[in-house]
Amino acid sequence: MMKLRLKIRREHPESGSCYYQSFEIPYEEGMTFLSALQKIKEHYDETLTFRHFCRAGICGTCTIRINGFPKLACKEQVLPYLLSDGDVLLEPLRGFKVIRDLAIDNQNVISKLKELRAWIKEKAVESKIPPTVSKKLESAADCILCFACQSYCPQVMEEEYAGPLIFAKLYRFLEDPREENPQVRLTQAIKGGNLYHCLSCNKCNHVCPKEVQPATLIREIMTYGG
Ligand code: FES
Repeated sequence: MMKLRLKIRREHPESGSCYYQSFEIPYEEGMTFLSALQKIKEHYDETLTFRHFCRAGICGTCTIRINGFPKLACKEQVLPYLLSDGDVLLEPLRGFKVIRDLAIDNQNVISKLKELRAWIKEKAVESKIPPTVSKKLESAADCILCFACQSYCPQVMEEEYAGPLIFAKLYRFLEDPREENPQVRLTQAIKGGNLYHCLSCNKCNHVCPKEVQPATLIREIMTYGG
């Protein structure tokens, strides 16, 4: 029987303890990293802490680092990892405060979304979205707030840069014909989010599980000027 060998970062900030714990569990057909974590919690260590909700790649809550790369644990299949040697490393997303083990505190990003008002402010008159614009907005609208791009962006470590997730969200308000004042949005993105601090390294494009391509959207926002 094939075995999955995991090395999981355990952290309990309240006691200051931080260490890596190894687990070896039997592989089951179709196993994802989320189902592996659930098996550990049920049968090996009930104190292991991680987040999940939909188990279908929709809610974005289960993102963790698997061998250093941000992935949705509920979508990532275990099988390809069994073929390589060594333990598979599971860690919380980088750049966030750890609440416990693999669960992170994303409040700073949520606050930034609120600060930059990442929702539409509709014009007084009703306006329709032409199909071509709707198609253009589709990719940005696919963002599930999983924080993978945000955690993998080297520039987010720099405090003033809002990060790829924020700009992917703001992008649609510059394009959406229902938005009351796209120009104000652009100014907010440039000043409030330090848009031009983006390195255009495309790392966020590579890790987004929904193929939102934040770096590409950021480059497009830059062409609006301001
Ligand atoms: Fe919802 Fe993984 S549990 S995206």
